[in-house]
Amino acid sequence: MCGIVGYIGHRDAYPIVLKGLERLEYRGYDSAGIALYDGEQLNLCKTKGKVADLKAKFESTTSTKGHVGIGHTRWATHGVPNDVNSHPHYSNSGNLVIIHNGIIENFATLKKELVKRGYTFQSDTDTEVLVNLIEDVMINEKVKLGKAVQIALNQTVGAYAITVFDTRKPNELVVARLGSPLAIGIGENEFFIASDASPFIEFTSNAIYLEDGEMAVVRLGKEIKVRKIHDDSLVDPYIQELQLNLEQIEKAGYDHFMLKEIYEQPDAITDTYRGRMLVEEGIIRMAGVDDNMARIANAKRIIIVACGTSWHAGLVAEYIFEDLARIPVEVEYASEFRYRNPVISENDVVIAISQSGETADTMAAIKLAKEKGAFVFGVCNVVGSSISREAHAGAYTHAGPEIGVASTKAFTTQITVLTLMALKLAKHRGTISDSTFRFHLQELERIPAKITKVLEENDHIKIIAEKYKNSPNCLYLGRGYNFPVALEGALKLKEISYIHAEGYPAAEMKHGPIALIDESMPVVVIATSKGHYDKVVSNVQEIKARQGKIIGIVTEGDEAVRELADYVIEIPETIESLTPLLTTIPLQLLSYHIAVMLGKNVDQPRNLAKSVTVE
Ligand code: F6R
Repeated sequence: MCGIVGYIGHRDAYPIVLKGLERLEYRGYDSAGIALYDGEQLNLCKTKGKVADLKAKFESTTSTKGHVGIGHTRWATHGVPNDVNSHPHYSNSGNLVIIHNGIIENFATLKKELVKRGYTFQSDTDTEVLVNLIEDVMINEKVKLGKAVQIALNQTVGAYAITVFDTRKPNELVVARLGSPLAIGIGENEFFIASDASPFIEFTSNAIYLEDGEMAVVRLGKEIKVRKIHDDSLVDPYIQELQLNLEQIEKAGYDHFMLKEIYEQPDAITDTYRGRMLVEEGIIRMAGVDDNMARIANAKRIIIVACGTSWHAGLVAEYIFEDLARIPVEVEYASEFRYRNPVISENDVVIAISQSGETADTMAAIKLAKEKGAFVFGVCNVVGSSISREAHAGAYTHAGPEIGVASTKAFTTQITVLTLMALKLAKHRGTISDSTFRFHLQELERIPAKITKVLEENDHIKIIAEKYKNSPNCLYLGRGYNFPVALEGALKLKEISYIHAEGYPAAEMKHGPIALIDESMPVVVIATSKGHYDKVVSNVQEIKARQGKIIGIVTEGDEAVRELADYVIEIPETIESLTPLLTTIPLQLLSYHIAVMLGKNVDQPRNLAKSVTVE
């Protein structure tokens, strides 16, 4: 995790690096730091806390001068979050300064060697070891910074995206990546470095995304040379034209990114199916599927790997793929899959789902699946991300940047992409009738308007949030397609409000969780008209009999649940497989309002980070 930013050029580096860190704060926010070089001295300031704390400290204690600068916002891996462990770190001589996102796993061994050679360390971090190792190489091997970085990195085991500079040569930055993302923005005689493109989007739309195992020396007045770290071979860098715009990464008048992103879902879903779903013609076009149709449609089995919310989208997809395309599906936590010895064959298709496209566990699961001969299809949101590049083929969700740490529009757009894919396969395999296929397309096209209708329930949901905001626990129940939504609702509540919440298949309640139900327990029950409605109503009765407080997510016009529930939130009617796209929305809003009412940091919940690039 962690976010890194760098700048070298004719402008003042400080405001660029600071703004960049604010945009990357979703990647980690335990501590932050910036180092600038003004031609004479290193202006370095770092602090435990957020980028706002760094700004206050920097501007009251340190000169903000310098045309070269690097900054870091941290999600602690080695060493507690405190000022000393914050980045940037510098070498014993004070000449080399580094920022690092990732983990150097063999840092203890390297440190021992360096200590023997007289190096001292102020922090507990692996990064301070790395910068001293680079310095040691420079001194002993009498090489320049770029070469020293390369030699040092070849001695490390682990993951990194780093930026290093030498105060004696302040016209160059050395960058490298393995397992953590790194983009280089190319301006007019100026360069920007960042974990993603958001810090430099207003300055340039040309960027190089380094591939794993690559490094570059970024020098003013020179072309960027990219080379492989392990064998020094030169790589032709691909300069990509970015599609992001500034408005997409700002709050646009909303109090929080999470709320903005919840409200963006009608547009995000439209963007997901636009150009892919031709309703009139009854066609779905998805290049990644079309180009590999034989391989995917003839899969003996689909294995879905993902983490967190993306895993929940995978569970929804399991129902859709089995229901429509009649292909057996298994959904696995990427973190479990990678560490057992899974039975995978060349006839399997692995679908990896990841908003960020950088999740370390999901990436490792893909690599394992590829090794075993499976075909890997990636469903990612971040264009050019590591997972999207590692997969054999894929489809982007086109949700736009998701900044709030709690995933919202990523989830619904993942479900949309997977629904399109399942429908397409079903048509190809002949497991769906033409009329049912067309009806699905028509209904999917109506979903954005239906979400807009659900969003109109916002004030009503606020009242419910007020009522239950102080409950220490909450249970979420759903069946079939809405069981994963129950899991997702519980995850949203716990991650941003820190209220303990659990999701269960409604019928499992009687096998244990029912013991928890009393008059103080709110139970959110998804009871839409299409999904085993009568059975869920029986569960609602069982909750009522034990004085549980019932919040029903029901279809418009519902009567039975309304009679039993304390509150109901209505969603418009749709076909069962598409209900998750609607039932999720009130659960997102409920968590959001409870967290705001409890005064929690909604966009940056404690201990979490948006992009989990460590295992
Ligand atoms: C929850 C959340 C996380 C992510 C998980 C996977 O709101 O955001 O659970 O879903 O860390 O991240 P990606 O999808 O980027 O692989």
